[in-house]
Amino acid sequence: MGTTSAQTDPERANDEANPSGSSIEAFFADSVIFITGATGFLGKALLEKLLRSCPRLNTIFLLIRPKRGQTVEERFKALMDNSIFDKIRWEHPNAINKVFPMRGDISEPGLGLTPDDRMTLMQSVNIVFHSAATVRFDEPLKVAVKLNIRATDQVLELCKSMSNLISLVHVSTAYSNADKREVKELVYETKITPHVIMDMCENLDDEMIAILEKRLLDKHPNTYTLTKGLAEDLISKKGLGLPIAIVRPSIVCAAYHEPFPGWVDNLCGITGIIAEIGRGTIRSIVGDRKLKVDIVPVDYVVDTLICACWHSAMHPGGTIKVYNCTSSTVNPICWGEFGQLIRKHAIESPSKYVMWYPNVTFRTNKLIHKFIVATLHFLPAFVVDLLLRCQGSKPIMLNITKRINRAANIGQFFTLHEWDFGLDNMMDLIKNVKMTNDCSRYHVDLKSLDWEAYTRQYTLGIRKYILKDNPDSLSRARSRLSKLYWLRKITQILSLLFLFRLLKCIGR
Ligand SMILES: NC(=O)c1ccc[n+]([C@@H]2O[C@H](COP(=O)([O-])OP(=O)(O)OC[C@H]3O[C@@H](n4cnc5c(N)ncnc54)[C@H](OP(=O)(O)O)[C@@H]3O)[C@@H](O)[C@H]2O)c1
Repeated sequence: MGTTSAQTDPERANDEANPSGSSIEAFFADSVIFITGATGFLGKALLEKLLRSCPRLNTIFLLIRPKRGQTVEERFKALMDNSIFDKIRWEHPNAINKVFPMRGDISEPGLGLTPDDRMTLMQSVNIVFHSAATVRFDEPLKVAVKLNIRATDQVLELCKSMSNLISLVHVSTAYSNADKREVKELVYETKITPHVIMDMCENLDDEMIAILEKRLLDKHPNTYTLTKGLAEDLISKKGLGLPIAIVRPSIVCAAYHEPFPGWVDNLCGITGIIAEIGRGTIRSIVGDRKLKVDIVPVDYVVDTLICACWHSAMHPGGTIKVYNCTSSTVNPICWGEFGQLIRKHAIESPSKYVMWYPNVTFRTNKLIHKFIVATLHFLPAFVVDLLLRCQGSKPIMLNITKRINRAANIGQFFTLHEWDFGLDNMMDLIKNVKMTNDCSRYHVDLKSLDWEAYTRQYTLGIRKYILKDNPDSLSRARSRLSKLYWLRKITQILSLLFLFRLLKCIGR
């Protein structure tokens, strides 16, 4: 891998490849890219889009750790065999040969890279996407600090030693400043410095950290947003002089169009909640139905990462560019409306796993919520488990309900607050992308997103990619749903009669 045209002069690389105007694809021609987090939801989609939309890129190195008894090679093979790469296999069958795994672990010093691999990266890489992180809201502080702050520190060290770096894109979150209500596209100074918190977590025992955690969190809802904010602060100081872009997506959800409409690969966070709303097992969520929800389809996030890499390198300006990759400013939708759209599509295209007629309410009254959870979430789960036991099957519903209930509780902060996100850099990026020759390949303007169509794709995506429901099961699922509709009506009438009798008895 020699010196690339992009790395010596990005502007020239663009013009030479495309004299009639600039092209994002030309910017990536010959580039050598290093990605962390490629086995994750966002990382997979990023890798796929880079390979598909930038066929002239040179090489992509992926940092992968061994996990759950699988070697790096086994995990790499499983990743590249994933159906997300089906389109690439048809359209650019050789593209996959440009991808190479490197053994690493972001929790280790030097990212756990071997000296040889490190040397290769130092000499050849031009572009880095740092996406690896822990995204668990309830991660113990020590772990979150190690994975989200210390690892970013190690990525910066590595980037500083790269002789040909033209862009480092750090994947942050729109909630890295969850303690504020107005979030501009700049790095805010944190109350405690990243180095102090890293030192504390390395030198104090778990008991002491647990005592300090509440003070450290201050107005942050969890260790995830706190540590992502601190990582940004670290980048703004230690990364000075490096060509860095920080991209802050809000809640990353299923794909709108690419690689496939509705594509999603896990049930974490909001996707799990949407799936359970569709199965009719979630009836109540603590949240303000009038507040704006901020979600972004994964393909928009991926395109923003690629375009931010290009845009920040083209317009250096000497400062770190921050891009708020959010929807609520340009295309707002509130929780109540979002919930109704999900319900509507769950009824139109039910899953064969539907348990009860879908209906969900966002409410701020926690007492009523608790009553509904006890009677309409846990009680039916208990009854289903009882029936499963009687049939000699393994009870599962109570565990699923507990898990979903925990996820909904952890997410409450985000359904009870809303943020105003500044979009100056994002608007400039959108304007510049629209002027490129390949603007039709990159979707970065969320104004064009149609929530009705998107929630439909999302529901169908969960059905197809997560629940593995094939389209033939739709008619059976619909007839099951219509039975559940009448069962629900009968239950409502019986409940009203019971209530009426109860009130009559009390009145006597
Ligand atoms: N998902 C969202 O809604 C959302 C929203 C805003 C921002 N983000 C940001 O987007 C990025 C990616 O998130 P995601 O949703 O794709 O999360 P994800 O699916 O959980 O992926 C996390 C990635 O990080 C890797 N990783 C974690 N610990 C590691 C370690 N010790 N060594 C090496 N790799 C490690 C994981 O590798 P393994 O496969 O080995 O575990 C995986 O590839 C994160 O920086 C996150 O903060 C996500």
